[in-house]
Amino acid sequence: MPKFTVAICGGGVGGLACAVALSRYPDIEVNVYEAASKFAEVGAGVGIWPRAWKIVQALGLDRELAEVAVVSPDHHPKLSFNFRKGDQPEGHTFYQLYTPGGLVTIHRPSFQRILLRHLSPSSRTHTGKRLVSYSQPAQGSSHSPITLHFEDGSTAACDVLVGADGVKSATRATLVDELARAASSAGRRDEAEALHRAAQPRWSGICAYRTTIPADALRARVPGHKVLKEPMAYFGQDAQVTAYPLLHGNLINVAAFRARYDLEGTTMRGPWVVDTTKDELAADFSGWEPEVQAMFQCVSKLSRWAIHTTERLPTFVSGRVALVGDSAHAAVPFQGAGAGQAIEDAYLLATLLGHSKTNLSTLTRALKIYDEVRRPYAQLVAETSRECGMLFTFNYPGFSSRDFGEGSDADKLRTIAETIRRKWSWAWDTTLDGDVQRAVQWLEAS
Ligand SMILES: Cc1cc2nc3c(=O)[nH]c(=O)nc-3n(C[C@H](O)[C@H](O)[C@H](O)COP(=O)(O)OP(=O)(O)OC[C@H]3O[C@@H](n4cnc5c(N)ncnc54)[C@H](O)[C@@H]3O)c2cc1C
Ligand SMILES: *[C@@H]1O[C@H](CO)[C@@H](O)[C@H](O)[C@H]1NC(C)=O
Repeated sequence: MPKFTVAICGGGVGGLACAVALSRYPDIEVNVYEAASKFAEVGAGVGIWPRAWKIVQALGLDRELAEVAVVSPDHHPKLSFNFRKGDQPEGHTFYQLYTPGGLVTIHRPSFQRILLRHLSPSSRTHTGKRLVSYSQPAQGSSHSPITLHFEDGSTAACDVLVGADGVKSATRATLVDELARAASSAGRRDEAEALHRAAQPRWSGICAYRTTIPADALRARVPGHKVLKEPMAYFGQDAQVTAYPLLHGNLINVAAFRARYDLEGTTMRGPWVVDTTKDELAADFSGWEPEVQAMFQCVSKLSRWAIHTTERLPTFVSGRVALVGDSAHAAVPFQGAGAGQAIEDAYLLATLLGHSKTNLSTLTRALKIYDEVRRPYAQLVAETSRECGMLFTFNYPGFSSRDFGEGSDADKLRTIAETIRRKWSWAWDTTLDGDVQRAVQWLEAS
């Protein structure tokens, strides 16, 4: 008999990391419900910083991940990015971001395969299961199960629901609705309205062109192109390009961003993800330096994504339902941190659920501790990611293009780089360990 059952809605990085982390506790039964008909991540790269890498190690995934990574993840200082000003005919590198451990870059489909391989026999995965909503019994009748309602008309039951269904989360929509109803019947109308708004994702004003290009194609065009060996971050007015090698350097991951901060928070018309052509990309980045153009010329398949974020939530938890990853705190991707933050959520939540003190009657307490400990940090990272995006695209207050020109550009660029480094250093200078200890102590004391 398992001590309780956990349903995980969504089989992305957050959901699968949660299932892997729960696999360490054979007395918990896990079911993962994924909307897609098969597990198929986008064929792009994802970067993992030392803070998240340490968790990957604790979960026993590091050896297999290191086999498919470019940088070997030890703690020596490594070049994480060359910062270049790229939005001009002749670009120039103005800063080299060296950080302990560097940035481990991994092809997303390989990451997903490795996570799936590490699920224990007590976890099952179900594809083609799109959650529409859930219903949970009123607080107090805490032993009857939560019911999940899927788009195909089927239902499933669980004791704990983990919403890992991304920025458009159906779990979040139901959760905030539940909280809004409680707020509104208590007469807290403003709070109820804010909660209702949080059901919907929020457009960041940013679009990202995403693609991978064969390293050979780029090498044929520009034999010594720096991105063949080193990660690059090209800065420009209202735009930015991040590119790095993947899969032993055989593939180059390219993400090109266009920022319209005046549109932040407005409704984005049309579909969020569209296939597009390299002509559109080239037109959007005309005037950028040749080494950026050379990457764009190697593109064959390209998509454009409207980057959406999650409204800042007052809680990640309601009763026996908890949110992890983008469903709880989707951010703009300018610190390469969303997947790592999802892994942190998953690890802390699983540690609390798996603890011997947690059983069916003490579940809600464990979830409350998860919320109290994780939420402030995850929301801070979302905020610093937004600030870094503004720094990358010369939109940060005091560092816009309007402020350029007075004083030396070199000094300004250096200040921007150092500000980014400072705001980003949590990713390589800190660990989750203190929060895990604090949460466990709290659980044991209760
Ligand atoms: C351009 C770009 C670059 C990025 N680079 C990095 C990086 O370098 N490093 C980093 O750490 N992060 C990066 N991120 C962020 C990272 O991709 C996300 O934060 C991360 O994927 C979130 O994982 P998740 O599991 O919470 O959500 P998702 O990956 O969105 O997974 C959600 C899953 O749930 C499924 N699903 C959705 N709705 C339902 C439903 N109703 N029922 C059942 N299943 C459902 C989906 O099919 C999907 O499989 C980047 C993001 C972008 C856009
Ligand atoms: C659950 O755990 C608490 C605290 O550890 C304990 O007091 C209680 O008896 C347990 N309940 C069940 C049903 O096992």
